[in-house]
Amino acid sequence: MRRPLVMGNWKMHGSRASVGQLLDALIRPEQESAAEVVVCPAFVHLQQAVDVCEPSSIAVGAQDCSHMRSGAYTGEVSAGMLVDLGCRWVILGHSERRQYHAESDGLVAAKLAAALAAGLRVVLCVGETQEEREAGEAQLVVASQLHAALAEQASLTDIVIAYEPVWAIGTGLTATPEQAQQMHAFIRKELVQCEGVIPERVRLLYGGSVKAANASALFGQQDIDGALVGGASLDAEEFRQIIAAAG
Ligand code: G3H
Repeated sequence: MRRPLVMGNWKMHGSRASVGQLLDALIRPEQESAAEVVVCPAFVHLQQAVDVCEPSSIAVGAQDCSHMRSGAYTGEVSAGMLVDLGCRWVILGHSERRQYHAESDGLVAAKLAAALAAGLRVVLCVGETQEEREAGEAQLVVASQLHAALAEQASLTDIVIAYEPVWAIGTGLTATPEQAQQMHAFIRKELVQCEGVIPERVRLLYGGSVKAANASALFGQQDIDGALVGGASLDAEEFRQIIAAAG
């Protein structure tokens, strides 16, 4: 009932040349998969990705967008600009944005509203730090990030949630499939409280050191509907294997 979704978050990596090679390796030949596939390069490579991916079924997403519609906001990129470019998705609330750019829950909620109003599909990231997990606060933190972002949104039809424990991002430490499943089941239960959401229909992605070697075990869990992949998505062969594991 929930189509698997595998997203590659290329973060601040690559050049026109390397992004071109990566895209080529992903679409020629395009692999058959039941999973939906999205790649999220840096802003400056989005147009290139949209142009290359157009004949394929791979969609393109951005890694962030502004909470404002338009105006004198130097350096910002609006959700409407992304749609105009051919982007269909945006990642919001990633822990690296929260940590290095001081993005608050309030700002993430405003960005979410702007993205949905512009017609983008959103992957909202939530996740606890190592300290929060050790203090037994993981569920509390995740619930609070979730509700702060989702409360009072006009429509949540196109929402996907990515659970990314901060301690597992880029560290090689992956949550065990059981740890991830436990949090995903908790998130799905929390979604019951969100107006306009049908929890069983919302796709929940796991993110944090996903690679070909651990993807199948993660995807085998009942409430894990795919992955938000960082480092491993920069290697076409590895990313292909993760996509194959999802569908
Ligand atoms: O958005 C992706 C996550 O931050 C995971 O990154 O796969 O390099 O740990 P990673």
